[in-house]
Amino acid sequence: MITAKNEDALTLEKMKKLRHDDEDRRYSPVLAQIEKITNQTQALTWICDLQQGDGGKGAMCDYLAQFHNFTVRVQGGDNAGHTSIFSNNGAQIELLTHLIPSGTRRNNVIGVIGNGVLVNAEALTDEIRKLEEIDVNVKSRIFLSKFAHLVFPFHIAFDSLFEAKMEKTSKSIGTTKRGIGPANISKVARIGVRVCDLANREYLKKKLKENMEFFGLPESAVDENIEWIEKYRDLMLSLACDTSALLTYAINHTYSILFEGAQGALIDIEQGTYPFVTSSLTTVAAITEGSGIPISRVNLKIGILKSYQTMVGEGPFVTEFDEKSAESFRKLSNEYEITTHLFRPRRCGWLDLVSAKRSALINDCNALVVTKIDVLAQLEQIKVCVAYQKDGNIITTYTPDIHDLDGCSPVYEKFESWGSDMSKIKDHREFPASLQRFLDFIEAYLDLPIMAVRVGPGENDVIVRNKPLFASFFRK
Ligand code: GDP
Ligand code: IMO
Ligand code: MG
Repeated sequence: MITAKNEDALTLEKMKKLRHDDEDRRYSPVLAQIEKITNQTQALTWICDLQQGDGGKGAMCDYLAQFHNFTVRVQGGDNAGHTSIFSNNGAQIELLTHLIPSGTRRNNVIGVIGNGVLVNAEALTDEIRKLEEIDVNVKSRIFLSKFAHLVFPFHIAFDSLFEAKMEKTSKSIGTTKRGIGPANISKVARIGVRVCDLANREYLKKKLKENMEFFGLPESAVDENIEWIEKYRDLMLSLACDTSALLTYAINHTYSILFEGAQGALIDIEQGTYPFVTSSLTTVAAITEGSGIPISRVNLKIGILKSYQTMVGEGPFVTEFDEKSAESFRKLSNEYEITTHLFRPRRCGWLDLVSAKRSALINDCNALVVTKIDVLAQLEQIKVCVAYQKDGNIITTYTPDIHDLDGCSPVYEKFESWGSDMSKIKDHREFPASLQRFLDFIEAYLDLPIMAVRVGPGENDVIVRNKPLFASFFRK
């Protein structure tokens, strides 16, 4: 803190030094917890979903975390469900995270939950506990933005009530009922409660009162919500800091950082199939606002492309299978939602490159990772949508307009099955010709290199396809 007393004596040089000393004092103890990855280019990596979510971002982030010192969430909330599977002390662990960035289970990684994330304190506490149960202690390695907004039980109740109401009158959105939409409403109404507000009980109570008035809830709900947050208050405050400043410091000290996207570009609030969308930004644009790091610093933007399409909620889905085919496909692919306790069957269909093209452009991707190649290996024939047809016209440019998408039918390119046991393949040069053709086709259509493919859910089920591209960022 600079006081008025010494103001006169300050030169530009002195101010710079004061600032640097202050930053060192705050953030060098954080960096001291980990060993810096040095023998590679500084990677500032964005992992995003080019579809409607659940493409395998968590698994890929868990893998790539070994080449980064920080993993960061910048948007969404615990509506996200990210899976990573890895061995830990000889046991096979399937870890499902909603808020803690994937890969934080690795000891050499700091996890950051940026200001753009909507935080359910109970969910975060549970996740920390779940990691502790497998002897992964993350409390000192997780930093939560003091400016992140909190999700309260009244938001969750409102989400369910509103969905039920919508079901009666028109089509509901099919939200995850995690209160994310209502928490965003509080945020933009300027009555949201942020992590830093927990330090001031009077202010917290005042804000909660304003929320009850706004949402038309009884005033008694204020005390109920206060009682609830009190259970998590100390832990939240102990994790809180200005994460934008922490990340800037880490970047200036040439640490590598992985930004883990949640949801997918097609359900983005601005660029998605509104109103069948989530309530947050889901594209690379979220990095600047949700973490304080300018997008221009991000040098690797990886689009995750599942080799087929899935969707959980309502909304347009041009390549969707009919119910009978979807049911048999789910038997092979196990596509069930994991975020809510309902385990809703995910809607399934063929890969849609028309929409993926737009998602890759919006995210300014410079690489792709194609996932679940092993699932398609079980089919006899594979289709990929390359255009839409409507009223006798061929459409090759995707517009997320629900009215335009209504009545579109897919135009397909067909591929022979690669029918192999993918677990036996360790190098991309061993891929069957039909799989090579499939991957070459995706590369040519999206005009982007496929850096790697995933052939299973495990931590090592990654086959690097473009070795020079991979090696230009990561040591292996
Ligand atoms: P996310 O939301 O994008 O992180 O994806 P989810 O974790 O919700 O869903 C992806 C599911 O596919 C999880 O069950 C993963 O364990 C699994 N998975 C990820 N990559 C692969 C893959 O290449 N093959 C198979 N079979 N499963 C995968
Ligand atoms: P990850 O990060 C798939 C969907 C919901 C619903 C819509 C709005 O695991 O890929 P919300 O609860 O956000 O208000 O619901 O968005 N949705 C997701 N679908 N994966 C997700 O996250 C999702 N997060 C939200 O199903 O259609
Ligand atoms: Mg998911």
